[in-house]
Amino acid sequence: MADKIGAVPPPGAASAALDFTGRVAFVTGAASGQGRQVVLEFARAGADIVALDVGQRVEYPAVQVREGDALHSLREEVEALGRRIVVGVADVRDDAAVSRVVNEAAAAFGRIDVLFNNAGVLGYAEVDAITDEALDATIDINLKGPMIVTRRVVPHMKAAGRGVIINNSSIMGLRGGARLSHYAASKWGLTGLTKSWAIELAPFGIRVVSIHPTGVNTQMNDSLAAMEGSTAQEIGERSAGNLLPVPWIETEDVAALVLWLASDKARYATGAQYPLDAGLLSG
Ligand SMILES: NC(=O)c1ccc[n+]([C@@H]2O[C@H](COP(=O)([O-])OP(=O)(O)OC[C@H]3O[C@@H](n4cnc5c(N)ncnc54)[C@H](O)[C@@H]3O)[C@@H](O)[C@H]2O)c1
Repeated sequence: MADKIGAVPPPGAASAALDFTGRVAFVTGAASGQGRQVVLEFARAGADIVALDVGQRVEYPAVQVREGDALHSLREEVEALGRRIVVGVADVRDDAAVSRVVNEAAAAFGRIDVLFNNAGVLGYAEVDAITDEALDATIDINLKGPMIVTRRVVPHMKAAGRGVIINNSSIMGLRGGARLSHYAASKWGLTGLTKSWAIELAPFGIRVVSIHPTGVNTQMNDSLAAMEGSTAQEIGERSAGNLLPVPWIETEDVAALVLWLASDKARYATGAQYPLDAGLLSG
């Protein structure tokens, strides 16, 4: 293994389709939204999958898994694509549960090539009205969760002398927002983790980047709308500020960026932040 430490993969032809055959992608928050889309795109591109999700409604902020048994249907969809999948029901805050899933994945596949730290929650709270529940859930799931998952996955990447970690931050990891200070703090924290891990893990051939989407069309908007007594469409239109005239982007847009960053075409991408913001941060 030692001779592989720090190895940089060859770039491949610029026009070739992304091919993850023989690779394993580990995705948290896999049951719905962006995580689910990323799982399916990796499977279509040939990867085997580790899909981790809490798999049930979490107490804050009333996040709901859209379908009754979203992880079960995800397994069926991935297997229908001819790929193998390990499904792990675990809360990213629960080190023992996360370790169990990582060990199961290592036993099944013998490798973990890509980690997409994506599980997250979002609720509005004014700074002088924020509850301990909101503060703890947001920081523990969005910031501490990726630390727990990453510390269990990294030994497998170090042993292989390669790996890519992609943290799903937000535009709120690059700017601020009213009633979002707790969320922005968790996502800025993820930016700090990205840069620090990139420095620490580069000698092992492991790249670490963060992505920063504007609003994405997922159940997260339904959850915010429920808090506001509004509709998801109104939430998107009110909060957008995108330069391009759309209230939000789609999960396919996020998946395209994630797969590119995970591929060897992005072999020198590390430590950096990748907005996918329909121009919002330039406005
Ligand atoms: N939707 C947006 O507008 C938007 C924009 C930028 C960034 N993000 C970020 O993207 C990520 C994915 O969000 P989404 O839009 O797909 O929302 P989503 O609610 O559809 O998906 C989040 C998934 O995370 C899972 N999850 C929640 N808490 C968990 C826990 N403690 N342990 C394990 N799994 C847990 C949920 O069950 C769900 O399947 C989040 O980190 C979010 O902060 C979302």
